[in-house]
Amino acid sequence: MAETIEIALNVNGHARRLRTRVDQRLLDVVREDLRLTGAKEGCGKGECGACTVIVDGRPVDSCLMLAYQADGSSVETIEGLAENGVLHPLQDAFVEEGGAQCGICIPGIIMAGKALLDRGLAGNLCRCTGYTKIFKAVARVAGKSPPAPRTPPTEPSAPSYFRPRSLEEALELMIQRAGELRPVAGGTDILVQAKDGIVDRAALFDLSLVPELKGIEEQSGHLRIGAAVTHTEILESKLVDRFCPALPMACAWVGGPQIRNRGTIGGNVAHGSPAGDTIPPLYAADALVEVVSVSNRREVPISEFFLGPRKTVLASDELILGVRIPKRPGVRGAFLRLGQRQAQAISKVSVAVAMTFKDGRPDWVRVALGAVAPTVIRAPETEKALLSGGYDAFRRALDAVKDEVKPIDDIRSTREYRRAMSAVLLERAVRRITEG
Ligand SMILES: Cc1cc2nc3c(=O)[nH]c(=O)nc-3n(C[C@H](O)[C@H](O)[C@H](O)COP(=O)(O)OP(=O)(O)OC[C@H]3O[C@@H](n4cnc5c(N)ncnc54)[C@H](O)[C@@H]3O)c2cc1C
Ligand code: FES
Ligand code: FES
Repeated sequence: MAETIEIALNVNGHARRLRTRVDQRLLDVVREDLRLTGAKEGCGKGECGACTVIVDGRPVDSCLMLAYQADGSSVETIEGLAENGVLHPLQDAFVEEGGAQCGICIPGIIMAGKALLDRGLAGNLCRCTGYTKIFKAVARVAGKSPPAPRTPPTEPSAPSYFRPRSLEEALELMIQRAGELRPVAGGTDILVQAKDGIVDRAALFDLSLVPELKGIEEQSGHLRIGAAVTHTEILESKLVDRFCPALPMACAWVGGPQIRNRGTIGGNVAHGSPAGDTIPPLYAADALVEVVSVSNRREVPISEFFLGPRKTVLASDELILGVRIPKRPGVRGAFLRLGQRQAQAISKVSVAVAMTFKDGRPDWVRVALGAVAPTVIRAPETEKALLSGGYDAFRRALDAVKDEVKPIDDIRSTREYRRAMSAVLLERAVRRITEG
């Protein structure tokens, strides 16, 4: 039986102290311990959104969050929407528009819809009602629903051997409990592996209170992004847009809002998938990965960080502290990808391009591609062709990129399609940069 720890939450405006098992997800605690059974378990893997609750103002998949990761947070569930027996306007609109059939997905969609009234709706699947009535119900309330008063978060109370409060504590844990505990950041990769029985949820510790892993900061020659910065935070950052414009474009593709609100850049890099969407923009920016252990600190060029699919140079006692991106004044960039669907799909091919210009001609070019080789790759011959100028530079670059990618056939796509699409995406990315 997994260890139990005490956590403090503010649930629908009420302060709660709870004893939870360290392997319980927020969804388990909400449904089983608090008996708030509106949030449902559909897929259990972050895909359907039926378990959506709002944590500290942002929608998240409660199936992909350990309960103690919500320690100190305010949690809103569907049960908290009605006030004094009067339905929230969004609930009313769903009733009026007939926006539900079996109802399984609806509490999650309403919570995501509530967040949409501030931000954006995606990341939820409905198998029966169809989206027209759901969109009509949400649209009906747009602009009419007063934002709910935000309940104040409480002081985290989980012990620091599961939620270290400093980098030093986290690194000590990596040594003291080596081989026993692994770090979890947003949990959007590792908790999916736990659902598949590959990882034990009781054998994780949370990085989200480590201040050194947070923040986006302009330094003298670099932009630094902390490893625990989420895709949503990158998307909202003007600094990242200025110094690495392809990166927010990539973050915008990652999952739906619930995934982007939890998933981090450090988790994306550490996971080491050749289809990881933040990685091509980091290659195209010549990024450095800051790696740290109790006894050492080093910076690894991103192009040397990956050894193969899901294999990196990280040692078992090391953490990614952040990434550093050299500042290039006037840099322009683009990221494009193809997946099975527009949202919630892994890339079949992705391309990131970064360029600077002098007197209207490119004077620095980087092209990186994802999902077309065992790791993300740079395409140096393609870059040379783009730099060379001349009337047929573009055509030579499009030919070169097809030679430089080394794709495979797999369940998501074929080698030939990936090769052809590498050139198509490259052309579109360069046009987006040069034509605006
Ligand atoms: C429905 C769904 C859709 C998704 N769509 C996309 C997509 O479109 N594109 C995409 O690229 N990804 C996608 N993902 C994958 C995932 O969301 C991202 O890879 C995310 O960035 C992972 O970050 P995380 O913080 O959640 O990682 P976690 O799951 O917390 O961790 C992942 C791995 O990294 C390690 N780790 C985390 N932080 C550190 C650190 N600082 N130092 C060392 N090791 C660390 C963990 O131990 C673990 O092994 C999707 C996932 C889901 C469930
Ligand atoms: S149950 Fe499907 S996203 Fe959580
Ligand atoms: S109403 Fe049945 S899945 Fe949406």
